[in-house]
Amino acid sequence: MLFIFLFTLIITTTFKLIIYFENWLKIVYNIVSMEIKSVELKNFRNYTLQKVGFKSGLNILEGKNAQGKTNLLEAVFLCAIGKSPRTNKEKELLKWNEQMGKVTIEFTKKSGTKKIELYLFSNQNKAIKINGVPIKKLGELMGELNAIYFSPDELKLVKESPDERRRFMDIDLCQFNKNYFYALNKYNKILNQRNKLLKSGNLQSIKETISIWNEQLSEQACYIILKRLELIDKLKVFAERAHYYLTDNQEKMVLSYVGLTDTSKETLKQKLVKLYETSLEKDLNLGYTTVGPHRDDIKIMVNDVDIRHFGSQGQQRSCALSLKLAELEIFKSNLGEYPVLLLDDVLSELDEFRREKLLKIINNFQTLLTCTEYNLNLPANVLKVKSGTVEN
Ligand SMILES: Nc1ncnc2c1ncn2[C@@H]1O[C@H](COP(=O)(O)OP(=O)(O)OP(=O)(O)O)[C@@H](O)[C@H]1O
Ligand SMILES: [Mg+2]
Repeated sequence: MLFIFLFTLIITTTFKLIIYFENWLKIVYNIVSMEIKSVELKNFRNYTLQKVGFKSGLNILEGKNAQGKTNLLEAVFLCAIGKSPRTNKEKELLKWNEQMGKVTIEFTKKSGTKKIELYLFSNQNKAIKINGVPIKKLGELMGELNAIYFSPDELKLVKESPDERRRFMDIDLCQFNKNYFYALNKYNKILNQRNKLLKSGNLQSIKETISIWNEQLSEQACYIILKRLELIDKLKVFAERAHYYLTDNQEKMVLSYVGLTDTSKETLKQKLVKLYETSLEKDLNLGYTTVGPHRDDIKIMVNDVDIRHFGSQGQQRSCALSLKLAELEIFKSNLGEYPVLLLDDVLSELDEFRREKLLKIINNFQTLLTCTEYNLNLPANVLKVKSGTVEN
């Protein structure tokens, strides 16, 4: 009896010491990262019922094509921001021919252990619970589980239209600040109303009400732009540093916000009201609002060249990666802990130098990385994905 007691005591004390030592090391090196402990998928894409455990540091999801690797990362990102990185159609996420699905994620952050449960239905909108309590607005989910998603598709962040770069800023800002999420939603609603009015062609009604819409739009636009400017100010410092790191000091990356700006809230609002007023004629002709933060952009220059239009594919890919690495640092600087990094199929796309550079730093936070074959000499928690099942 005494032996069993002593044995249990020794084992529990050893575990406590290990955890204490690990936490102490993290504090000393200022490494604090959110960590997903488990993900459970029920009728999500090609999964019927699967629970997956994750560890600190590098987690590899290894499997042949079309087995469910991306689906798993998609489920995690869905619980982070309430939207899939791949589709806007919620119904696509539910396993074919099923009525109900669920994603459950248990994770730890500085403030303690948390659980997100996201329910999908074939005949109604999704529902979300945080620690067992249903949320009323999607905004309540923002900032609970923070994640950054990076896939080869992310090249569009640098290469494609400004929507991609606005989405990039907006997703981050929503995760940092619920008020940003609400302001953005309000802005979009007012914008829709203004556009409807413009399309109606009812000049009398436009004359009577347009100044009210302009005023309301400017109020939200002002908040959105000032928050984006704060983000870009930090992002440009981290992105320049990350890009020097990835290119061996060969390329200087410079970011700037493209749109109406001002450092003073009052002046910016006045400028915005004027902007909406002066664009009215053009807006009336086109039937939509042609100016405002919903048209703004981020300009990315590398060694004084506009990389969106003149960069090589490899340069654009490096820029996208630098932006993602900078994003990680911004989360750390704004929230005091790193988010979870989701890397979907990116290793095959990078050359050896950049791959090594990337792998060198991902130990600082929890990473879930998908690949078809894991042949790196790095300690990792390797999980095999096969036809909607995962071997722990
Ligand atoms: N709603 C759904 N219900 C059932 N199966 C689905 C659903 N949506 C997608 N699938 C299937 O899930 C499978 C796995 O998709 P996933 O994108 O996760 O593959 P992957 O392992 O990442 O493959 P790759 O290495 O090619 O990227 C696909 O074959 C797809 O047809
Ligand atoms: Mg995939």
